Amino acid sequence: MAQKNNDEQFKNVISHAKEYGFVFQSSEIYDGLSAVYDYGQLGAELKNNIKTYWWKAMVQMHENIVGIDSAIFMHPKVWKASGHVDGFNDPMIDNKDSKKRYRADQLLENKIDELYSELNNFSSENKAKFEEFQQEILGLSDEGQMAWIPSFKDEDGILDNAKYPFVDEASWRFVKKGLALEVEMNLALKSENLGQLKDLIVDYKVICPISKTSNWTDVRQFNLMFSTQFGAMAEGSDEVYLRPETAQGIFVNFLNVQKSGRMKIPFGIAQIGKAFRNEVIARQFIMRMREFEQMEMQFFVRPGEDKKWFEYWKEARLKWHMALGTKPEKYRYHDHVKLAHYANAATDIEFEFPFGFKEVEGIHSRTDFDLTQHQEFSGKKMQYFDNDLNEEGKPYGNYVPYVIETSIGLDRMFLLTMINAFEEQDLSTDDKQDSRTLLRLHPALAPYKVAVFPLTKKDGLPEKAREIMDALKFDFNCIYEEKDAIGKRYRRQDAVGTPFCITIDHQSLEDNTVTIRHRDSMEQERVAIAGLADIVGKAVSWKTLLA
Ligand code: GAP
Repeated sequence: MAQKNNDEQFKNVISHAKEYGFVFQSSEIYDGLSAVYDYGQLGAELKNNIKTYWWKAMVQMHENIVGIDSAIFMHPKVWKASGHVDGFNDPMIDNKDSKKRYRADQLLENKIDELYSELNNFSSENKAKFEEFQQEILGLSDEGQMAWIPSFKDEDGILDNAKYPFVDEASWRFVKKGLALEVEMNLALKSENLGQLKDLIVDYKVICPISKTSNWTDVRQFNLMFSTQFGAMAEGSDEVYLRPETAQGIFVNFLNVQKSGRMKIPFGIAQIGKAFRNEVIARQFIMRMREFEQMEMQFFVRPGEDKKWFEYWKEARLKWHMALGTKPEKYRYHDHVKLAHYANAATDIEFEFPFGFKEVEGIHSRTDFDLTQHQEFSGKKMQYFDNDLNEEGKPYGNYVPYVIETSIGLDRMFLLTMINAFEEQDLSTDDKQDSRTLLRLHPALAPYKVAVFPLTKKDGLPEKAREIMDALKFDFNCIYEEKDAIGKRYRRQDAVGTPFCITIDHQSLEDNTVTIRHRDSMEQERVAIAGLADIVGKAVSWKTLLA
């Protein structure tokens, strides 16, 4: 039931986004382009406001972080050095009957979720114990994990473990099978054992959701980078890639920025920009797109100080999210047990979307991997000379800095913001049925800050309203509306998250006061026109988020 409500809520958010001009399917009149979306008139405003919040928090509030805007096209060797040419792959598999293509790991993850859904039959105490046990198992060495598999696969076996004495409830059978599959899948992915992935799909009887058969091809690697020809002539032109992450534009400019900006370690370089990935499966609206936007920051630190800075950024980034007023239980960290070959620590900040907890942002301790790789592939030194003194009183000297990365998907943050803000309120009283759809956006993020309404279209009210709008529009994005009854106009602004509606009536002409209506409480108060900028300015100020 809860699942159904969540599905419904998600569908409502998607249709709301379209109806009010936030997000449209790309090329819709040609039936759309899969996993590509356009932002409409209000979506572009909201997206810009999210960008501004990030840019201010990361760049302008930190004296040691600067922002750049690097090109989407980069020298092809960049992607060889970064490992994307050889390693940025998804394992994919086709169903021969439906001809549909899937990511092998996602098929298996769905199966794991299905098996774990039996956890709902556990008591909350046993569920918590299981999660602790699961973390313990996933934290073991590869061999240690494998050693547990036979007991998980033993259909009737109980868990003979004093700390976690799970009884042989019917549900435990499924849950432990889920754990076995999770371990086996992780190990197969880590060793890039495609044959093993196929075996797991067959052994665990995974079927195609369309054809309902298990008639699968072998698993193949599929590189996610888009490529195109560079140069006008086909002859002599070179293959270049559309960047799959913005980070590499920062790495290759590390010394340019450090030298021209006279930056001293520790320092950061941030950027916001488009990234492209030919996702095998793109789904859940703007959650997984083929063209999307990232907001990334690489923080360059002394080797040995990486752990400290990783913890710092982990905390700082969650604070950034929480400042928007989201309920704390909606967020969680997911520390990576399995690390990419270049990372020594990584965590995801996950948000509870209607379809479960999913990653919004990654914080990665990337060691000196990227700079060292670029040093090797370009033949140019990527070193920094640190003349601060170490504990022995000697300069730290030359080294390749370590890097902590914070990487957030702008589109995912946009989706999160819409979902979080979307509310359908029942306002019915004994006498009257009533409801409203509300976007409870933080005022600093709201597309319009103020809606200006003359009560009627005559008697000089529109002129007075225009006067007010003309005074406010330099500082605040305003909208003017004179059509429809005032109640209807309020509802329209509630639905797009406008925090203030100002109504100009006949009294306004006499005493220069107006009614200001607050979106969330729906309260109205009479205020002087001269005080409007102050009321609105305080509520929408970036200080409310950044101070
Ligand atoms: N430079 C590191 C990096 O790119 P990532 O985990 O692959 O790391 C970072 O991506 C963030 O970018 C993710 O947390 C997610 O928010 C966003 N992201 C990744 N792929 C995406 C896609 N196909 N569509 C939308 N957002 C995506």
